[in-house]
Amino acid sequence: MLEEPMEGNSSVTRKRVAIMGAGVTGLYALRHFGDDSKSKLVAYEVQNRLRGVWNYPPGCEDFPDAPITSEHYCRMYRGMRVNAPRDLNRFPELPLHDSSDDSYVSRESFQSHLHEYGQKCDLNRFVKLRHRVNFLEPLNSEAGPCRWRLFIEDLTSQSVAEEVFDIVLVCNGRHEKLHLPNLPGLNSFRGPVIHSAHYRSSEAYADKSVLIVGGATSANDIALELLPVAKKVTMCRRRQLNIFPKEQFPNIIESSTDV
Ligand SMILES: Cc1cc2nc3c(=O)[nH]c(=O)nc-3n(C[C@H](O)[C@H](O)[C@H](O)COP(=O)(O)OP(=O)(O)OC[C@H]3O[C@@H](n4cnc5c(N)ncnc54)[C@H](O)[C@@H]3O)c2cc1C
Ligand SMILES: NC(=O)c1ccc[n+]([C@@H]2O[C@H](COP(=O)([O-])OP(=O)(O)OC[C@H]3O[C@@H](n4cnc5c(N)ncnc54)[C@H](OP(=O)(O)O)[C@@H]3O)[C@@H](O)[C@H]2O)c1
Repeated sequence: MLEEPMEGNSSVTRKRVAIMGAGVTGLYALRHFGDDSKSKLVAYEVQNRLRGVWNYPPGCEDFPDAPITSEHYCRMYRGMRVNAPRDLNRFPELPLHDSSDDSYVSRESFQSHLHEYGQKCDLNRFVKLRHRVNFLEPLNSEAGPCRWRLFIEDLTSQSVAEEVFDIVLVCNGRHEKLHLPNLPGLNSFRGPVIHSAHYRSSEAYADKSVLIVGGATSANDIALELLPVAKKVTMCRRRQLNIFPKEQFPNIIESSTDV
């Protein structure tokens, strides 16, 4: 029997709820299940901090490909600004402050917003940091609803424990694993080839000639950061999007041919 008696009321039981990951999605889920007196809640977060992709930890520039278990793990770039207007992209319980009046706030401001949210709603109390969910399996029962067995690794003690839950919310994001396509000719290119997840800032690209493969948000943001410092920025996308008007950005050369 998983469900536990509620304190002071042995006839009502609480469901055991596990949340996997404490980024934006996990924090929001925590806030709502945390208020639910019928749930007993725990969140497992593999990193040593909350807030998922919004962190930009000290020293991350020096370890661009640090794994998720490292304190230097990062998926952001320094100059990132949020791409949605601030009043559509914040937790309803809190204002989203920024040093400017811009509607599109900086990464730092959004990170602080998440920090304030965690503090205000006292979410830390539910989270086990440096705990990675390695595997989960359904426990089917003819008598009742399916439950889940989780295999959780404590990275500090290097031990693995099994726990059973009534409900599991998978909030693990989608940015840990990179996909670098095996483009013909890539292996014979002599210069550095990096994935946008490892890009932090423009300094290293001064006076370089850079080809950006892809044409979505990261590609466009990075092209705009490189433009003032690089010798030449060429973008190659497999679909014509016409994001940059030629008159305003004459130095970005766009090509829609297949890579
Ligand atoms: C560079 C960049 C810029 C972005 N800009 C915007 C933007 O401007 N606006 C916007 O709306 N979105 C933006 N996004 C998208 C962003 O991913 C989402 O907004 C949102 O932050 C995703 O939150 P999440 O909680 O789902 O995932 P994540 O933030 O990835 O959080 C997942 C958490 O789960 C943890 N985790 C993963 N696996 C495990 C495991 N096995 N066990 C335990 N814990 C685990 C991770 O450590 C992490 O803390 C951006 C993304 C990137 C990479
Ligand atoms: N400022 C911001 O707010 C900001 C900044 C960065 C990222 N983000 C967010 O982060 C998430 C990820 O964005 P992203 O731009 O990094 O990734 P993405 O949206 O997945 O875009 C990947 C790009 O790479 C191209 N591509 C993929 N495989 C390819 C291949 N084999 N050959 C050629 N081109 C290929 C895709 O082309 P197709 O479209 O043709 O598939 C697409 O243009 C999104 O949610 C985005 O909103 C936000």
